[in-house]
Order: sequence, then structure tokens, then C-alpha cells
Amino acid sequence: MTSSGRTREGPSRRGPVITVDGPAASGKSSTAREVARRLGIRHLDSGALYRALTYALLDEGVPQEEWVELEADDLESLQVQVEPTEEGIRIRHRDRPLDSELRTARVTARVSSLASVSAVRSWLLRRQREAARHGALVAEGRDMGSVVFPDADLKIFLVADLEERARRRLRERGEEEGPDAVRDEALRLARRDRDDETRSVAPLRKAEDAVEVDTTGLTLDEQVDRIVAMARGLTGSDAQI
Ligand code: DC
Repeated sequence: MTSSGRTREGPSRRGPVITVDGPAASGKSSTAREVARRLGIRHLDSGALYRALTYALLDEGVPQEEWVELEADDLESLQVQVEPTEEGIRIRHRDRPLDSELRTARVTARVSSLASVSAVRSWLLRRQREAARHGALVAEGRDMGSVVFPDADLKIFLVADLEERARRRLRERGEEEGPDAVRDEALRLARRDRDDETRSVAPLRKAEDAVEVDTTGLTLDEQVDRIVAMARGLTGSDAQI
């Protein structure tokens, strides 16, 4: 950020922004949430925004083959509202708060295809940047450091072995970690990685100035400690946390 507070993301960003990007199940959500809590700043889960639009489209019965033609007006009419809160953001659909609805298998299976629609990405870009107008932020997703906050004060890119990521996903869901289950989950994750990395708009990639953290052999506490230490080491009067 420059001393005037003006950034490539537009004027009036308030406070430092830390971005945490990486592939599915690399540990982004739990890490970003805990880093934000330890630093006492807000958390933006950008994947939840893509999930909310997916949920709303399914709820309103818009056929998936029409998603590619969606325009800003169509997205506006879905009535997905994003509001700032003390901890980050709250998402509503037609005034109803969305939470566990965002993580169902039905939404998870379709969200990548919506995330490749460029009108969707532009529509969400503004909403994500708006979140930084309410104070310091840990922003988590796939393109936080590369597209949404190119001037972020600290950019982290998390990676982990595919098999380790598959095990984490199974553990998260309370399922057995047998060899077949691990292999199937690894295949699903690899497919999502490929979709996210090869789409033409805002593909998943490490920003040049991001710090890569391999979480394969790290506990959550260790990952968080490293990032918090880097965040506390930021210098410059407007980047101090
Ligand atoms: O992190 P997640 O699993 O909640 O993300 C859901 C989907 O949204 C996933 O397919 C990638 C996409 N996504 C994206 O394209 N850009 C982001 N900044 C965040 C998520």
C-alpha cells in the first residue's frame, strides 16, 4: 500500500490485508480464520461467496447450462446480500442467513463451474474489495493475492501433498481414512485443482510475491504461528498489525 492509502484495488482500503490462497483442502479456511482471530482482525472466506451464488441459482432452479450466460443483472436479482460484521462477512439469500447450506455436496459439486464465469468473478470482485474498506483483513481463496488484492501487505500460498489433503477432507467429514476412500477423495481433489488451475479467468496460481508454505507436515498451530510471525514482522507505518 502507498502512504496515501491508494492501491490498485481502489482508494480507501483501511488497514493491512493478508491474503491466503491455495488449492482445495490445503488448510486455507482453518488457517486464515485462526490467523485473523490471533491478530484480532476480520476474515473473508471468498469461497463462501461463490458457494452462496451457486446455492441461490440451485434454489431458484436456474439450469446449470445457463450459468455461463449470466450477467450482472441476473446476479443482482438473485438477492444474495453480503454484509460486514465484526469478524468478517455475513451472507444472506433473500434475507435468510446462509451457513451450512453453503457446504453441501450439491453446492460443492457445482461451484467450480460457476467460478469460471467471468461475469460472476467481476460481480464478486467489488464485494470482496468492499470487505477491505471496513478494516484490516485476512482474505482467503484462490485469487486473493493475484487478482483481488494485488497490493496486499502479505501474501501466503499454502500447498500440501494431494494424499494428505484427501485425508484432511475425510477427517473433516468424520469419514474413515481407508486406502479406497483416500484414493477416491484424492481423485476428486485433483479434478477440482485442474478445473481451478486451467480456467481462463483468474486461474488458481501463486502470485509472484507470495510466500509458499507447505503444510503437509505441519499442525494447524504451526501453520498459524508462521503466518502470524510474518504478519507481525510487516514494516511500514500503514502495514503495522
Ligand atoms: O474454497 P472453497 O472450496 O469454498 O471454494 C469454492 C469454489 O470457489 C472452488 O471451486 C474455487 C472457487 N473459488 C474461486 O474460484 N476463487 C476464490 N477466490 C475462492 C473460491
